Amino acid sequence: MSAEGEFAGKVAVITGGGRGLGKAFGEALAARGATVVLIDLDGKVAAAAAAGMGGRAVGLNGDVADEAGMAALMDRIAAEHGGIDLLINNAGIHSAEANEFIGTLGIARTRRMFDVNVWGVIHCCLAARPHMAGRQGAAVINIASMAAYGAQKAYGVTKLAVRGLTMSFAHEFAGDGIRVNAIAPGLILTDTIRAELAQPVIEHVTAMQIIPRPGEERDIVETMLWLASDRSSFVTGETIRVSGGVTLQI
Ligand SMILES: NC(=O)c1ccc[n+]([C@@H]2O[C@H](COP(=O)([O-])OP(=O)(O)OC[C@H]3O[C@@H](n4cnc5c(N)ncnc54)[C@H](O)[C@@H]3O)[C@@H](O)[C@H]2O)c1
Repeated sequence: MSAEGEFAGKVAVITGGGRGLGKAFGEALAARGATVVLIDLDGKVAAAAAAGMGGRAVGLNGDVADEAGMAALMDRIAAEHGGIDLLINNAGIHSAEANEFIGTLGIARTRRMFDVNVWGVIHCCLAARPHMAGRQGAAVINIASMAAYGAQKAYGVTKLAVRGLTMSFAHEFAGDGIRVNAIAPGLILTDTIRAELAQPVIEHVTAMQIIPRPGEERDIVETMLWLASDRSSFVTGETIRVSGGVTLQI
């Protein structure tokens, strides 16, 4: 089968799909024939991103921290598109400001980060599961972070939880034929990162990688495409690090 049609007939739901990695995932899957649904807190940005995907995508407003909202949205998506094959849990709070110790961040902002980064994954997995069950090649891909390997600060703790959820849901969903994996990106130059991080910080991180170049969206997209495809059909419960071999404990 040609790469163009690799995901023909598949329905892919991507959270945080309006910009950055989520948008890049949507573009890659739409270009390979999938029907793509982008969910984003910013509905306008999701709609604009979807409009650029050749008629194969829709953008919807939604907050992954909203349990009832996600349940209703997954039901609606499944009803409109005939089910769900791929779920990419990508929405996350990861601003430089959020990368703080819990005591510094404070309870309210720490709670919100857990609500989005951790509970968001739980809400979407549980809401999508009945619509994915039994579908050939069904797969969940969670976006963790290299910060999960040091977990020094609040952000890393949430991403360590994402690794744990990936292992647990891999067991729980196996009976429904759904594989569950994660990607732990290193520093990837999305627009948000470019806007937030000073060039010396980017160079500092890059210098700590075995492959000393900045990470790009396409690096993570390639891993996502593999995990979303049957080429990884014997892989579940794994978190794959894609970081240029960074040794930094973020
Ligand atoms: N860019 C990196 O260097 C990097 C590294 C490691 C991990 N990650 C992870 O990758 C994911 C995407 O990162 P990015 O750089 O593309 O981010 P980004 O900030 O560019 O985009 C994230 C998108 O998620 C949306 N979003 C935020 N909260 C949401 C919510 N509650 N519900 C729905 N949508 C929500 C935002 O509106 C935004 O459009 C995040 O989970 C992040 O933690 C990124």
